[in-house]
Amino acid sequence: MRKNIVAGNWKMNKSLQEGLALATELNEALAGASLNCKVVIGTPFIHLASVVAAIDTRKIGVAAQNCANKESGAYTGEVSASMVKSTGAGYVILGHSERREYYGETSAILNDKVALALANGLTPIYCCGEALDIRNADKQNAYVQRQLEETVFNLSADDFNKIVIAYEPIWAIGTGVTASTEQAQEMLAFIRSLIAAKYGQEIAENTSILYGGSCNAKNAPELFAQPDIDGGLIGGASLKVADFKAIIDAF
Ligand code: 13P
Repeated sequence: MRKNIVAGNWKMNKSLQEGLALATELNEALAGASLNCKVVIGTPFIHLASVVAAIDTRKIGVAAQNCANKESGAYTGEVSASMVKSTGAGYVILGHSERREYYGETSAILNDKVALALANGLTPIYCCGEALDIRNADKQNAYVQRQLEETVFNLSADDFNKIVIAYEPIWAIGTGVTASTEQAQEMLAFIRSLIAAKYGQEIAENTSILYGGSCNAKNAPELFAQPDIDGGLIGGASLKVADFKAIIDAF
């Protein structure tokens, strides 16, 4: 059975001290609570080891927001998948539209990142999603299909079974405009149908597929009630414990 997941993506926010305070507060808020979903927080690299040490990682998983497309060596400023793993983090967000758009991450680069993440025992949370012009032209399904076919659909069935997919329409990220419940459910059902066609029904049913883009405490209950929406990838609302906890409690 696939897992419900609520994952926070802090993006480039919070000093180390602020991030530790946020993680500690979340840890306290969830202590003793019985949760119906897996909780993950995606912190900047420099926070990872300290956050892992400060929280109950059986309850809250920790994700990096990126990793290098190279194993090791002379790549100044990069952080490898094995370094991420050595902090105790278990997940890595890959293919976020901000990485694709602002840092030129192509499908070829992302294939290497996904392979290295898996080789180092990290769970990739692999993002896909279309820009507004593509949605307006009603070409979103073909676009997302291509994003998947060029990347994670190259994986073996065994490896694909280890990843999480997050659909984040770019027009809904940080805009306050959420995809309607129908739009989100429709796309996630489409993605699941593609997985079924490629890897079979069992793997499709086992794959957690998340929605991201202006997800908040108000819209989460309806989104998470949809049959193909297995949780959320949360940006802004993951930066305040009360908001994030309310989304977690939507399950
Ligand atoms: P917001 O929730 O701030 O729209 O961000 C979504 C996102 O990009 C998560 O990765």
